[in-house]
Amino acid sequence: MFLWLKLLVSFFVPYSEKMLANNNMNKERIDWEKLSPREIKAEFAKINRKFVERYELIDDSDQFYSYLAKPIRTSIRINTLKIDPGCVLRRLKDKIDKEIPWFEFGFFVKDKEIGKTIEHKLGLIFLQEAASMIPPVVLDPKPGSKVLDIAAAPGAKTTQIAQLMQNDGCIIANDVKVDRVNILISNLQKCGVLIAKVTLKDGRFFGRFENKFDYVLIDAPCSNVGMIRKNFKYLKIWSMRDVKALSRLQKELLLAGYKSLRPGGTLVYSTCTLDPLENEEVVNFLLEKTNAELEEIDIKVKSRRPFTKFEGKEYFKEIKKCLRIHPQDNDTEGFFIAKIVKNY
Ligand SMILES: C[S@@+](CC[C@H](N)C(=O)[O-])C[C@H]1O[C@@H](n2cnc3c(N)ncnc32)[C@H](O)[C@@H]1O
Repeated sequence: MFLWLKLLVSFFVPYSEKMLANNNMNKERIDWEKLSPREIKAEFAKINRKFVERYELIDDSDQFYSYLAKPIRTSIRINTLKIDPGCVLRRLKDKIDKEIPWFEFGFFVKDKEIGKTIEHKLGLIFLQEAASMIPPVVLDPKPGSKVLDIAAAPGAKTTQIAQLMQNDGCIIANDVKVDRVNILISNLQKCGVLIAKVTLKDGRFFGRFENKFDYVLIDAPCSNVGMIRKNFKYLKIWSMRDVKALSRLQKELLLAGYKSLRPGGTLVYSTCTLDPLENEEVVNFLLEKTNAELEEIDIKVKSRRPFTKFEGKEYFKEIKKCLRIHPQDNDTEGFFIAKIVKNY
């Protein structure tokens, strides 16, 4: 009887909401700052033992655990489509902390409530995690070009891409989830993006548009380990089964995105997670199946060597050109970024 009741409740209460509730409970109960890295690891194991076992193979350092438990720094991007950066900096001077080294209009802020300011409501600034500004910087789309953003919602990177293109050209901003597409549309409007056409498709659909786009961004759905600092729900819901399923989807999205890229064009593949199966393995798959080549990424960000072998599998040496960023490297979310070019 009790089991039936539990099943009934779990049917009506969305999974993510329950996770959020648990997440808040846990954050309140544990004073993470007082714990040593090994104690944090032990607490993480209580929440999700399989996660800790897996990450012993990826990053088992003290720093990794202490940064995963540390709240993420708030950061903004000034939206130059709507305002002169000097004007925003003057208006928000008491709230700004320091510049983000890898994007000239990105700033860490002292005020966690910056989302409530009029500047944010008007779309003069966009709340965006600092590491999430890297993929558009690496893509470096030129004004007047054709861009495909295959998994675009809620639009942090699409709006940044439009900013880099100075609202000149065309962006196909796609996502598969209707509720997220609605947020994407609202963010594009708020930020004054005039060059985006929004589509609601499975990203794999775009494989049929061969050689069409100058730039393609695949900011792939992933297991979100890099975002644990933002929300502990990602630690709770993490599973190896999801990692494997996501890895398959990511390979298919990458292949479709690569097909749609014109020869001479640039594709950026990124995730905010750290499992090699969702990163190096996916890029390695593309190198095996196509004539894709990786390019060196030259930006002011601290990163570490990508895996060139994992669980007995060897990857192409070229994989070293990718950026693998762990939370402790720059005090940000974790990220993985690959810059891929298609030859003529
Ligand atoms: C990491 S989020 C994208 C974040 C976004 N690029 C930004 O910067 O705001 C991954 C997105 O992939 C979308 N997604 C999941 N499966 C997809 C698929 N098969 N095709 C296209 N998008 C998909 C999810 O709905 C989610 O919005």
